[in-house]
Parts: sequence; C-alpha cells; structure tokens
Amino acid sequence: MTATIIDGKAFAATIRARVAEEVARVKAAGVTPGLAVVLVGEDPASAVYVRNKGRQTLEAGMHSEEHRLDATASEAEVLDIVARLNADPAIHGILVQLPLPDHIDAGLVIDAIDPDKDVDGFHISNVGRLATGQKALVPCTPLGCLMMLRDHLGDLSGREAVVIGRSNIVGKPMAQLLLRDSATVTIAHSRTADLPAVVRRADIVVAAVGRPKMVTGDWIKPGATVIDVGINRVPNGEKNRLVGDCDFESCAAVAGAITPVPGGVGPMTIACLLANTVTACCRAHG
Ligand code: GUN
Repeated sequence: MTATIIDGKAFAATIRARVAEEVARVKAAGVTPGLAVVLVGEDPASAVYVRNKGRQTLEAGMHSEEHRLDATASEAEVLDIVARLNADPAIHGILVQLPLPDHIDAGLVIDAIDPDKDVDGFHISNVGRLATGQKALVPCTPLGCLMMLRDHLGDLSGREAVVIGRSNIVGKPMAQLLLRDSATVTIAHSRTADLPAVVRRADIVVAAVGRPKMVTGDWIKPGATVIDVGINRVPNGEKNRLVGDCDFESCAAVAGAITPVPGGVGPMTIACLLANTVTACCRAHG
C-alpha cells in the first residue's frame, strides 16, 4: 500500500482564503481583526515563525503588531505589554512566542493574557473550557491536525486514536479534541510500555514527540492515518534538513494517509492562528 499524502500546504491556503473572506466581511461592518505577537529574545527559529505570522496576518487583511523585547527583559516588562494589549480594543488576539527566557515564568505570562484574546488557547481558562466541552479558543497545532483528520476521514467517532506525546501545546489538547469528536483516545509517551504495540492499534496516529523519525512503518496499522507534528532539524551536509517524528518512507508504505514534513501540519498551524483571531474578534463584537 502507498499512502495518500495529506497536503497541509494546499489545505492551509484554502483556510487562509476563507479567513480573508471573513475578515473582509467584518471590516465592512467597521471592525478590523488585530493580532499582536510578543517575542522576547533572539531565538532564530522563533524569529522566523513570528515573521511568517506577521506576513500572513497582513495578507489576510488583518491588523498585525509585533512587540520585540530584549532577551534580558524582565518578567514585569512582559506582563506590562500583555496588560496594555489586553486593554487595547484594536487587538483581538495576543500570542506570546514560546519559549520565553528562563528567568520569565511562562505560565504566569500566559495566564495574564485575557482568555478571550488568547488565540494560542494556552490560558488555563481555555484549557479548562476545552476539557469540559465549553466554548474555548483551541491551540492552533492540534486544531490544524483535527481539521486534516476530519477532512480526510469524515466522522472520527469510534476510531482508535493514539497521540504520542503529552505536551500542553500539542499532545494533551489533541487528545481532548479527538475525545470531543468521540474517538477512543490513548496518550502515549516516553514511559509507555511497548510503544510500538500501542501505536499498532491505532486507526489515527498523531506523533508529537520531537524525536526525528522515531515512528517507523512497522509500528503502523495498515491503512491508518498518520499525522506527523514533528519539525526536527537534522544535519544534511552544510545545511540542516527538516524531518518529522515519523520515518516518512517506511510509514507511507503502510499507512492509508500521511502528512509530509515540511508541508503538512506546519502551514496549518498559522492558518488556524488567523482563524482563531477572527473567531476572537467576532466573539468580542457579538
Ligand atoms: N512556540 C512553538 N510553537 C508555539 C505556539 O504554537 N505558540 C506559541 N506562542 N509559541 C510557540
């Protein structure tokens, strides 16, 4: 069997087009959705993400702001920016790029964001809302994964899903979203006994561990749908190359469908961020 490649790049483009239409509609009603991104320090990967977010926000017709702080900025300075953005009526979405420098308490900063502007869905209030089935802003990467799964499989009800990884950003919210769609969900992680055997049960595999090519084809049930969240930089001659958490060739030989890296989950994350910003804007303006 050779897997269908799930084209996240193309899917993300259709979502961005839909977001742009929605932005045009709310602008016609007199409101421009606005997204503010806060970046502390000089982490090169973060700087690239932030630049891409800003560009795509503008391309969708929204207002975009970047707030850059030196790596030595104090926690109080970051909290002060968050407080100002919370109070700013032109801003509907606030994203503080992670990781933050070690001397800043990321949990404290995230929970200082107005939950209605928390387009990352990381605020404890949004985490609780998602877990209890209330209206929430949902983390962008798992939301993008869910959209691809629904698009490819339709109804997820009763399907066996295994999420590999238990992070607050991907693994846990992914499990919540799959549960909300009535899948049977297992969260596997580094301490799971016989991980390959657990993954082999799955109709849906979401790999979010950050270990290059960890999941190999012999772990995959024939015909399963594999969503690879990993973005790992590995040396490739002079440069680095991006690889996922799944060994693409061997998994694609067994799976029914698989997302590539790059061009799978990655583009969906920013598209969902834009969608969350418009959602937050529409909720704010009733
Ligand atoms: N760093 C890596 N991924 C993310 C994300 O989804 N949101 C934020 N705020 N920071 C990140």
